Amino acid sequence: MMREDQLPRFDGVFAPVVYRDGGIDMVDQTVLPERTVVLRLTDVAEVAEAIRAMRVRGAPAIGITAAYGMVLGLEASEDPNRIAETLRETRPTAVNLTWAIERMLRTFERHKDESAADIRAAMLAEARRIHSEDIAANRKIGQCGAELLPTGARVMTICNTGALATGGYGTAYGIIRAAHEGGKLAMAYPCETRPRLQGARLTAWELLKDEIPFRLIADGAAGALMSRGGIDAVLAGADRIAANGDSANKIGTYGLAVLANHHGIPFYIVAPTSTIDPKTETGAKIEIEERSEDEILAPYGCRFAPDGASAWNPAFDVTPAELITGIITEKGVFTFPYGF
Ligand code: MRU
Repeated sequence: MMREDQLPRFDGVFAPVVYRDGGIDMVDQTVLPERTVVLRLTDVAEVAEAIRAMRVRGAPAIGITAAYGMVLGLEASEDPNRIAETLRETRPTAVNLTWAIERMLRTFERHKDESAADIRAAMLAEARRIHSEDIAANRKIGQCGAELLPTGARVMTICNTGALATGGYGTAYGIIRAAHEGGKLAMAYPCETRPRLQGARLTAWELLKDEIPFRLIADGAAGALMSRGGIDAVLAGADRIAANGDSANKIGTYGLAVLANHHGIPFYIVAPTSTIDPKTETGAKIEIEERSEDEILAPYGCRFAPDGASAWNPAFDVTPAELITGIITEKGVFTFPYGF
């Protein structure tokens, strides 16, 4: 493993992407945990490819990456609207991507009559502000969420919502981190999260790095663990939260919410307010990304299914608002009926 001090850092924490000397340093999440590779991206096409291929993933992290991508494009004197379009088309579900791009476009509008150097400086400052604000929001979320947990908490989570998925620190993972630091966490149970295995590959990598106690579980073991009284709370991230509180997150989240409700276990969605999309009324209107069936038939190049098999591979599902105990944000905890 690369030494901790060799990984990118921003605002005092490990960050999956940073902008440095006219380029983006990015931890390649497709090769973790086997290898820790920091890529160097220098143009918009590379940034778009990295988001599409999930070298960077997680809603806040792709928003921050797109913001830095806008800066790179302007360095090459590209048209901001064209850059925005290229980056927006990479992944459809996470609203943080559009949110960050629109914020960068508004910044451009405010500065467009200034010199090219001043425009570039203003854009980079805005991208870094988006990044800083995300880390600050995560820290607040961590504190606020940890207060909701009992001492000795056993917490289930899904996918990766850690530093890798955000500007740094993490959302649902940030609560696990804060609970651990506050001496409240007994055990984290990350689901392995098929088919891309973000739980097994990425969350386990972060938990080991952060020395937080955990036991990885197969996705199918979640119900059994809850039924034995082994879980005090489920914490999941979000890619887009509709105006009514319906929340899209990694495929399998909805199943965890149903199970948690059946067993009377609090089920929380954890996200910065940049993930709330007031323009989308309900979960039914959220576009769900469908990815290649090869991710299921032959994950990471290892073929399990027989030749001729086909697969359905939605990357996300929607948890209805009424199954969510609370939505934990940097502005506090929202509860049903959600009116943001
Ligand atoms: O397909 P991914 O890995 O980008 O999906 C990520 C998730 O579903 C996360 O839970 C969500 O983006 C929140 S990350 C803080």
